[in-house]
Amino acid sequence: MKHILVTGGAGFIGSHVVRLFVNKYPNYKILNLDKLTYAGNLANLKDIEKNSNYEFVKGDICDAKLVQKLFSKHTFDAVIHLAAESHVDRSISNPMEFVVTNIIGTVTLLNAAKHHWQNIIAGEGNNGRSNLFYHVSTDEVYGSLGETGFFTEQTKYDPHSPYSASKAGSDHFVRAYHDTFQLPVVISNCSNNYGSYHFPEKLIPLAINNIKNNKPVPVYGKGENIRDWLFVEDHAKAIDVIFHKGKTGDTYNIGGINEWKNIDLIRLLCKIMDKKLGRLDGESAKLITFVKDRAGHDLRYAIDSSKLQKELGWKPSLQFEEGLAKTVDWYLANEEWLKNVTSGDYQKYYEGQYAKR
Ligand code: NAD
Ligand code: TYD
Repeated sequence: MKHILVTGGAGFIGSHVVRLFVNKYPNYKILNLDKLTYAGNLANLKDIEKNSNYEFVKGDICDAKLVQKLFSKHTFDAVIHLAAESHVDRSISNPMEFVVTNIIGTVTLLNAAKHHWQNIIAGEGNNGRSNLFYHVSTDEVYGSLGETGFFTEQTKYDPHSPYSASKAGSDHFVRAYHDTFQLPVVISNCSNNYGSYHFPEKLIPLAINNIKNNKPVPVYGKGENIRDWLFVEDHAKAIDVIFHKGKTGDTYNIGGINEWKNIDLIRLLCKIMDKKLGRLDGESAKLITFVKDRAGHDLRYAIDSSKLQKELGWKPSLQFEEGLAKTVDWYLANEEWLKNVTSGDYQKYYEGQYAKR
């Protein structure tokens, strides 16, 4: 029996990780600790919320008392840490929130794990470990690529946005707790995800929502920036593999081998949406609106995930066109979810952001 603390399980990727673990490992107990910020939503986990191996606690990872109390009560074997402020544009308007959750929150969790695991002798469980602190991170810590090359696990950190700087800081703390206190840790750095339950402030779900509602689709700058897109369920599967088979103290890059220029991606999405919505070919593309570029906008991300593929046997399962069509279908079939997450503050925030551009 493994007792796992998952943080940020009500968010986009976290909900897929929780769902996968709760369904695949009925003998594990999963406790989801989430503050339910604007990006967290319990509706993301409706299908598994009543499972006997799942429990939800609303709370802040920066609340040291709460985190210590949960560790004392549940004696977790492992942590899968996903809770974070995750949107680059928000990190430009409010960097401090990112420092607090992404750095202080991570160190708060590391302290609790260090305190509660110090007397436990490694030797059983995950790949010879009795405990594991799994930190979920991003490829954005590596900075920006030119036209060629890939991020490997050896690439030097060079973050540019407050978001990526805060994630880089959290990665460094996780490694420091491994090197200084022998805390058993593993880190993965993943490329951009897409799929169901993605909050519509990131490019793909925002564009789907706007196309559906005949609103302008904002493309920053000339749309020439490149991202490497991975279907979120493939990311969750990679986390499962690394959690069970990854080497303690190691880093694994996760990526889709799927680079797209933003403008090409949006044009493809418009084509898919024209078909799904019964519109004339080219109708949705008329909504594309070039707007002021993001400050410090990284040009290109591309991940070399060959270590994960060779050592642990993971590979992405879906072609992008198929994954994108599946994602559009999900958003069209889940109007209620979309309506709920875009009610309240969303309109105010989004319209404010858009007006600034
Ligand atoms: P998200 O913004 O959708 O979800 C974040 C979750 O964390 C939300 O449920 C939110 O309520 C919760 N949260 C935020 N602050 C909290 C706090 N102080 N205490 C407790 N819970 C808190 O993010 P996501 O896209 O699902 O990303 C999850 C993780 O994966 C993040 O660490 C992110 O850096 C990383 N990541 C994301 C991507 C991507 O493409 N989205 C790619 C690589 C890595
Ligand atoms: P985003 O989904 O915010 O992810 P990240 O910044 O973490 O890569 O953005 C993906 C790309 O799309 C990035 O190059 C910025 C661009 N973008 C737009 O062109 N328009 C938008 O409205 C958004 C949100 C992003």
